[in-house]
Amino acid sequence: MYLQIKDVSKTFGTFTALSGVDLSIEKNEFVSLLGPSGSGKSTLLRLIAGLEQPTTGQVLIDGQDVTALPPYQRGIAMVFQDFLLFPHMTVRENLLFPLRMLRMNRDDAEERIDWCCRILSLTALKDRFPNQLSGGQQQRVALGRGLVCRPKVLLLDEPLANLDRELRRDMEIEIRSYQIQLGIPFVYVTHNQEEALSMSDKIAVVNKGGIEDFAEKSAVYDRPKTRFIAQFVGRSNVFTGPVEAATEGKAIQWHGQRIALGQALNDSNASSASAYIKIEDTLIEAANANPSGKIAGTLRDVIFRGQYAEYLVTVDGGQEVVASSIDSATRVKPGDPVLLSWDTAKLDVFPDEVAA
Ligand SMILES: Nc1ncnc2c1ncn2[C@@H]1O[C@H](COP(=O)(O)OP(=O)(O)OP(=O)(O)O)[C@@H](O)[C@H]1O
Ligand SMILES: [Mg+2]
Repeated sequence: MYLQIKDVSKTFGTFTALSGVDLSIEKNEFVSLLGPSGSGKSTLLRLIAGLEQPTTGQVLIDGQDVTALPPYQRGIAMVFQDFLLFPHMTVRENLLFPLRMLRMNRDDAEERIDWCCRILSLTALKDRFPNQLSGGQQQRVALGRGLVCRPKVLLLDEPLANLDRELRRDMEIEIRSYQIQLGIPFVYVTHNQEEALSMSDKIAVVNKGGIEDFAEKSAVYDRPKTRFIAQFVGRSNVFTGPVEAATEGKAIQWHGQRIALGQALNDSNASSASAYIKIEDTLIEAANANPSGKIAGTLRDVIFRGQYAEYLVTVDGGQEVVASSIDSATRVKPGDPVLLSWDTAKLDVFPDEVAA
């Protein structure tokens, strides 16, 4: 493992910002730290960078314990959301600045700047000032100031948050391609799941100062390990209610409906539970289909989202369910009776915590 965080905790006064964090990242991995505001993502990144000291635990890079080392001796670079380029310096001078801090000699520094500009396609812009660059070009220079030092690890803290949506998408692809080209780990903080899913190899889901899961992004998306992840990643319908047992497996009673759970909860004696199904796995059909095992309701509204549509359905019992899977031949309009169904194996089921 190239970058290791071992049982790290961090307290500020009486407040615990991180506790019991373990993370192991390989040399060629792109890892996102995904979590809501205040969950501890930036604190964890700052601990890796050496901008904060952990209260307990260790940070290792390439086998070396760097916990006691100051930031500039760790071989790590960090790119921030509100990156500030020096306005009175050209692109070249902005890139030279961190190399000066390292006391690199002039020739080596120029060579390094050329290398960095080639990777980031900045060669033609080297003599421009920041106010003569587009937002995306400025962002590339900010990345360049991290990369020019040839770090062992690049840390990025929401570097795209201030860019508009289209530019952000382009930059996501670019950043990923730099990481592949450089072959060093990138640790990327975001609360935007689309960003995390599009760029990363693996995602660490951060919640309340801990890591809820650290896994391949498809596993995090398709098989959420915790209820929090089921709620936070992707968009799901949730069915919560008492659990009843039947011969063909357990089911949740949900506002007069029966949500069959298949094999789930077979080994559990939970008396109530929640089942999550992603909206793209929730199929809507016209009510003339075979209703057995399906849930009946009325289509209330259709929201077009460009590549797909969301069908808002009021099920009999008054609850709302969103479906976005539909057969292309199906024609339904608001007010029509409809049926909802899904593959039971795709439900993510979590027993409700029992009050002790
Ligand atoms: N220097 C500090 N002193 C006291 N509390 C702090 C300090 N730095 C961070 N915190 C607290 O630690 C918690 C985690 O902060 P952190 O900045 O890591 O969150 P985050 O996940 O990056 O959130 P965001 O998505 O909003 O940037 C927050 O409750 C924050 O108020
Ligand atoms: Mg933050």
